[in-house]
Amino acid sequence: MSESIMVSNLTKRFGELVAVDHISFKVKRGEFFGFLGPNGAGKTTTIRMLTGVIKPDEGTALVMGYDIERESIKAKQVMGIVPETANAYIDLTVWQNLMFMGELYGVPKEERKRRGESLLRELGLYDRRDFKVKGLSKGMKQRLLLCMALINEPEILFLDEPTVGLDVRSARSIREILQKLNEKGVTIFLTTHNMEEANQLCNRIAVINHGKIAAIDTPERLKRVMKGLQHVEVSFDKPTPLESLAKLPYVNDVRKIGNSIRLYTDSPCDLVCYIVDYVREKKLKLISLEVLNPKLEDVYLKLIEGGKQP
Ligand SMILES: Nc1ncnc2c1ncn2[C@@H]1O[C@H](COP(=O)(O)OP(=O)(O)OP(=O)(O)O)[C@@H](O)[C@H]1O
Ligand SMILES: [Mg+2]
Repeated sequence: MSESIMVSNLTKRFGELVAVDHISFKVKRGEFFGFLGPNGAGKTTTIRMLTGVIKPDEGTALVMGYDIERESIKAKQVMGIVPETANAYIDLTVWQNLMFMGELYGVPKEERKRRGESLLRELGLYDRRDFKVKGLSKGMKQRLLLCMALINEPEILFLDEPTVGLDVRSARSIREILQKLNEKGVTIFLTTHNMEEANQLCNRIAVINHGKIAAIDTPERLKRVMKGLQHVEVSFDKPTPLESLAKLPYVNDVRKIGNSIRLYTDSPCDLVCYIVDYVREKKLKLISLEVLNPKLEDVYLKLIEGGKQP
């Protein structure tokens, strides 16, 4: 089977609230799949259902071919999980936590020692192995959680915002590790609020909002389809009223971004000519002018603001 995750009509309610609302999607084997959405969109709830922590109210999901309800033990054997809130015991050491997790997954003693040592070395935690978890920094804890998720050599890894709150270097090192694992064939299901991260890493991205999937595609296609988000960014030597720029032909929308003005358009080339005329007419000087394609962040905002679906 070429799918690693098959979700059909998956639904979770908390009282009146439908936190996850009949979502369906597939993730291929070996894919790096991003799951994006605003706070409260239903990302963690989805991950918790897929990893067998909570039961869905409706719908089904297969992970690596195993039904998450009927074959949850088999499914769990092939997954690694980095949950939203730390699942390490703070009064145990790094090494004890790791060995405990290995034991839980039934990894034989010698094997878990070997894997544990190699993971700690790879993630730069080896010198901290005898530290209690409560004495670790956030970045170190996050790396330990990743080690714990990898101790059973999973075929599929679920990560709920693994880089949140990390400094630039630690976040990058986690991204590099994920990329390497993915290159070795591990399927990755990642939630993140970091658009650049999703753009860099993911083969495909699903955007979830109010429990429903708003879009699902490659980052490139999501950006391309959103043509209306193309824009020209200009800055002038003098303050310029946004209203007069909004009246130029081909302008769909205007926004002030720092010192520059962003003009959204379907036709950047035509618009540039009009900007040049405008500058001459108003006796302004152009400080900068740049034609930009939409960033994933723009596409994302448009989607979750209830804008058009690609
Ligand atoms: N155990 C629970 N009991 C009641 N409501 C819950 C529970 N877990 C989640 N919810 C609600 O379900 C909705 C989705 O929450 P979820 O944690 O899945 O969001 P999220 O997309 O992970 O958000 P974030 O980006 O903030 O982590 C929210 O409205 C949340 O308040
Ligand atoms: Mg969450």
